[in-house]
Amino acid sequence: MGWYMVKSGLNDNPHVSHFRLAIHQGLALLLIVSILWTILTVNEDKNAISKNHSSILRISYASLILLSLQITLGAFVAGLKAGFSYINFPFMGDSFFPPAIVIKLEPYFYNGVMLQFTHRWLAFVVFFSFLWILKISRSYQETQKYARILIIVGITQVLLGITTLMLYVPLALGVIHQFIAIILLMLLIKIIHILKHPMTPAAAKM
Ligand code: HEM
Repeated sequence: MGWYMVKSGLNDNPHVSHFRLAIHQGLALLLIVSILWTILTVNEDKNAISKNHSSILRISYASLILLSLQITLGAFVAGLKAGFSYINFPFMGDSFFPPAIVIKLEPYFYNGVMLQFTHRWLAFVVFFSFLWILKISRSYQETQKYARILIIVGITQVLLGITTLMLYVPLALGVIHQFIAIILLMLLIKIIHILKHPMTPAAAKM
C-alpha cells in the first residue's frame, strides 16, 4: 500500500492521493491494534470471571467507529493540505460554515475545506463519546481508570488540533497530533479488551 501511495505522485509534484494516504495510515493503525490486542490477550488472567458489560461495550464500539472516522478524516485533511485553508477557530473566515461558493467548488471527498470543517466538529462528537464511556464506567473500577486517561488525552488532542490549525500547521505539531491520535486509539482498545476479557478477577466482580 505504501508503494501504491507513493506511486500516486511523489515524482515531479510531491503530493500523494489523500485516499491512498488514509488507507496506508489505516493499515498501519490496524497493525498497531493487532499487536496491542495480542499482547493484552497473552497477558490476560485466564481465570477471570466474565461479566455482562454489554451497554458500555456498545458505547465503546461506537466510540471506536467515530474515532476511526475522525482519524481517516485527519489523513484526508493532511493529504489535501487542508489545514492551511482556514486557520481561525471556531469560525472559518467570518462565519461558522464555510462560504457556499467553497462548499460547491468540489465534491465533498475532494473538498479540503469541507473535510476540515467535518474534522474540527467531529472531534467534539468523539470527545462526547469518551465522556459517555466515563459516565457509565463508574461501576467498573479498572475501565474507569482508562476512561479518565481517555478524557485527559482527548482534551489534549482537541486543544492540540486547534493550536496546530491556528499556528498554520507546523510540522512538529502535526506529527504530535497524529501520535496522540494513536494513543487515543490504543486507550480505547485497552478499554474494550478489559470489558471483553477482564484483567483481574477483582475487576470482573465490579
Ligand atoms: C478527537 C480529536 C482528533 C483526532 C483523533 C484527530 C486526528 C487527526 C489525525 C490522525 C490527523 C492526520 C495526521 C497526519 O496524517 O499527518 C489529523 C490531522 C489534522 N487535524 Fe486532527 N484530530 C482531532 C481533532 C482536531 C481538531 C479539534 C482540529 C482543529 C480544530 C484538528 C486539526 C487537524 C489539522 C489541521 C490536521 C492536518 C495536519 C497536517 O496537515 O499535518 N484536529 N488529525
